[in-house]
Amino acid sequence: MANDQRNLFNFRYCCCVLVFLSTFSSISFLYWSHCSKCCYSETQTAVQEQNRTINLLTYPSAWNNLNFPSKPPARLLKVALFVKKWPDKHRAGGLERHATTLHLTLVERGHELHIFTTASSNSSFTEYPISNLKFHLSKPTAAGYLDQAGVWKQFQTENSAGRAFDVIHTESVGLMHTRARNLTNLAVSWHGIAYESIHSDIIQELLRSPDKPQSNLLTQRVKKVVEEVRFFPRYAHHVATSDHVGDVLKRIYMIPEDRVHIILNGVYEGVFKPDALKAKVFKSKFGIPESKALVLGMAGRLVKDKGHPLMFQALKQILKENSTIRDNVMVLVAGDGPWGERYRELGSNLLVLGPLEQAELAGFYNAIDILVNPTLRAQGLDHTLLEAVLTGKPLMATKLASITESVIVSKEIGYTFSPNVPSLKKALYEVWEDGRVILEKKGQLARERGLKLYTATKMAAAYERLFLCIAHDREYRRDYCKYQQQVG
Ligand SMILES: *[C@@H]1O[C@H](CO)[C@@H](O)[C@H](O)[C@H]1NC(C)=O
Ligand SMILES: *[C@@H]1O[C@H](CO)[C@@H](O)[C@H](O)[C@H]1NC(C)=O
Ligand SMILES: *[C@@H]1O[C@H](CO)[C@@H](O)[C@H](O)[C@H]1NC(C)=O
Ligand SMILES: *[C@@H]1O[C@H](CO)[C@@H](O)[C@H](O)[C@H]1NC(C)=O
Repeated sequence: MANDQRNLFNFRYCCCVLVFLSTFSSISFLYWSHCSKCCYSETQTAVQEQNRTINLLTYPSAWNNLNFPSKPPARLLKVALFVKKWPDKHRAGGLERHATTLHLTLVERGHELHIFTTASSNSSFTEYPISNLKFHLSKPTAAGYLDQAGVWKQFQTENSAGRAFDVIHTESVGLMHTRARNLTNLAVSWHGIAYESIHSDIIQELLRSPDKPQSNLLTQRVKKVVEEVRFFPRYAHHVATSDHVGDVLKRIYMIPEDRVHIILNGVYEGVFKPDALKAKVFKSKFGIPESKALVLGMAGRLVKDKGHPLMFQALKQILKENSTIRDNVMVLVAGDGPWGERYRELGSNLLVLGPLEQAELAGFYNAIDILVNPTLRAQGLDHTLLEAVLTGKPLMATKLASITESVIVSKEIGYTFSPNVPSLKKALYEVWEDGRVILEKKGQLARERGLKLYTATKMAAAYERLFLCIAHDREYRRDYCKYQQQVG
C-alpha cells in the first residue's frame, strides 16, 4: 500500500514537472526520460493491483464466481449439519436436494460430517457405508421440526467427546436461533425468506378467483418479515442461495455485510450434462416421435404454487387456437400432483410422466428443447432450472427476482414472463417462433455460463472455503478468508 502511494505520488509529481517544463520547450526534453520512467512504474503498479488479495467475508458477489482449488484442503473439518429431514438420495426436492448434494460432496472431499436430523417415521432410513459420515437421528416434534432440546443434547455430547466441531451448518432454521446465538463458527443457509415470499403472496392474490376469500397471508407476511429481521442477526453467518436474497439480507434484514455470503445452489455436473444417446433412449421409451418440431418440458411437483393452473390455461388456449402448434409441439411433464390429471385432459400433446428418478431425469432434460418453469413461489433458486442449464437447455420461467438476477440474466439464456396467462402465452409463442436452432444456441450459452457457476463442485468448494474461514481455529481462518484474485 505504502509503495502504491509513493508511486502514485512520484507519478503525479513527474507529470506536473512535465507540464510545467513543457512550457519551456528547450529544456523539457532533458526531463522526459525521468518522467517516462515514473509513468511506467505507475503502469506496473496498476497491473499488480489486478492480482489483489480480497477479503472473502466482504466479497459482494456470488462466491461461485471465484475459483477455489479442486484439491481438498490440508485441513479437514469436523462439521455439524442441522437439517429437518434427510431425504432419500434420489427423490429430493428443494432444500433437501441442496443438503444432500452439498454435504455428500464435502464427505467425498474427506471432511467429517455429523448430520442431526429427524428419524423417518417409516424406518426406511438409507444408511451410507462411509466412515466420515455419521447420522444423529431424533424423533421430530408434532409439527415435524427437529426437537431442539434433544438435538442440542446430542450435539453437545458429540462436541465434547473427542474432537470439537470446527463448524456448524444449519439448513434454514434446522437449529433455531435460541441455540445458535452464541456460536460464532456457524452458518445458516436460507432457502426461502419471508420478504421474498411477499412477491408470491401478491401474485396469488391477483390470481385469486372472486368466489374465494382473501388470504390473510397478505398482512401476516409483513409481520413475519419483521420477526425475521429481529431474529436473523442472532445467526453468525448467513448464506444466501441467490443474489437477490443476498441483497435483501444486507439491505432489508440489516445484517452486516461481512456476515452475508452469496453461494448459489449447484447440481451434479456429472449427472446433468448433454447426452444425445440418453435423449434418444428417453424419447423411444416414452414414445415421443422424433418428428415433433418442439418438445417443451416441465419438472417438479404439479401443484398450484408452481404455476400449473396458469400453464394449463395458456396451453389449452394455444392448442385450441393454433393447429400448427397442435400438430408439432409436445409437452413432457415430469412429476406428480393434482395438476397431472388436468394436464391429461389436454390430449395427446401432453405426456405426464410421473416422478422420475435422478438418472431418468437426466434423460428427460436431454429429450426436451426447453425447460418451462411457471413457478409462483419466490424462494431462492429452483434446482430444475440449474439441472436444465447444465444439460445445455434454455429456460423459460416466471419473472421472480432470484431467477432473473441469478439465472435467466439475459435473453440469450432464455425467456421470462409475468405470472398471468397473456404474458405466458406470449412467451410460449416466442419460443415456437424462435424454433429449435435458436433454442440450441441459447442452451449452449446457458451451459457455458452454468458450468462456471452452478456445478456441485463449485458450490461445495465455496462452502468448504467459507467453513474453513469461519472455523473455530483462529490460526487457520486468517489465510482461508483471503483470496488471491487473478485478473487476465
Ligand atoms: C498474478 O498471479 C499469477 C499466479 O500467482 C502469476 O502467474 C502472475 O504473474 C501474477 N501477475 C502479476 C502481474 O503479478
Ligand atoms: C412410507 O414409505 C412409503 C413408500 O416408500 C410411502 O408410500 C409412505 O407414504 C411412507 N409413510 C410415511 C408415514 O412417510
Ligand atoms: C448464550 O450466552 C448467554 C450470555 O453469555 C447466556 O446467558 C445463554 O445461556 C447462552 N445460550 C446458550 C444457548 O448457550
Ligand atoms: C400459429 O402460430 C404461429 C406463430 O405465431 C404462426 O406463424 C402460425 O401461422 C399460426 N398457425 C395457425 C394455424 O394459426
